Amino acid sequence: MEKVIFKVFRFNPERDKKPRFDKYEVPIRNGMTVLDALYYIQGYLDGSLAFRSSCREGVCGSCGMHINGKYRLACETQINRLKSKKITIKPLGHLPVIKDLVVDMTDFWEKYSYIKPYLIAGAPPEENERIQTQDDRNKLDGLIDCILCACCYAACTITDTEKNYLGPAALLKVDRFVEDSRDNNKKERLLTVSGDSGIFRCHTLFNCQEVCPKNLDPTGAIARLKRMAISNTLCFWEK
Ligand code: FES
Repeated sequence: MEKVIFKVFRFNPERDKKPRFDKYEVPIRNGMTVLDALYYIQGYLDGSLAFRSSCREGVCGSCGMHINGKYRLACETQINRLKSKKITIKPLGHLPVIKDLVVDMTDFWEKYSYIKPYLIAGAPPEENERIQTQDDRNKLDGLIDCILCACCYAACTITDTEKNYLGPAALLKVDRFVEDSRDNNKKERLLTVSGDSGIFRCHTLFNCQEVCPKNLDPTGAIARLKRMAISNTLCFWEK
């Protein structure tokens, strides 16, 4: 059976002075994913390896990590497609390591929560539901599929240098609600992201767009928000 070497980031901040990489030889079969390999390592070679996963099918966003030079979902990355006999795995960047491939997502979730990632529609609907035309619904295509894996957040250079920068996932979500015909909070949302931790911090580097496992376009969403903020003359320092 074909074998691949996995070089995996290991670090337990409570015990280790510094991170290291451990190597594991994993037998692979056709269709096997990087997540399958991590389970193999954990089950047969080293039970102390820590990583996150849940759905194992690209839905929950738990298994984002840095695999052979790019942030990807481990459960959607087939080993054969990497075309390499050596695979290096590191945790998501710009977030503190709890253990091995598990990072502390507190910053990411706090920023996400700050932008109010839910519909703010104002008055109750006249009917039992808030009707949306098909054209209005179509405007949300490419905006509602984010699985919050934080690959974009880790790939963004600005989230590293500007600790308060809201980051691509949160800003994509703002655009998702600004574009929603049922939302009644557009001005407030634009104000929220027009400060020094928001859209104008984005340098349009396209890293987020490049790594998104769902092929979404946070860079485009941020550019759209910038245009709206400027055309609404809402650009001012938030604090
Ligand atoms: S385990 Fe759910 S996205 Fe990979």
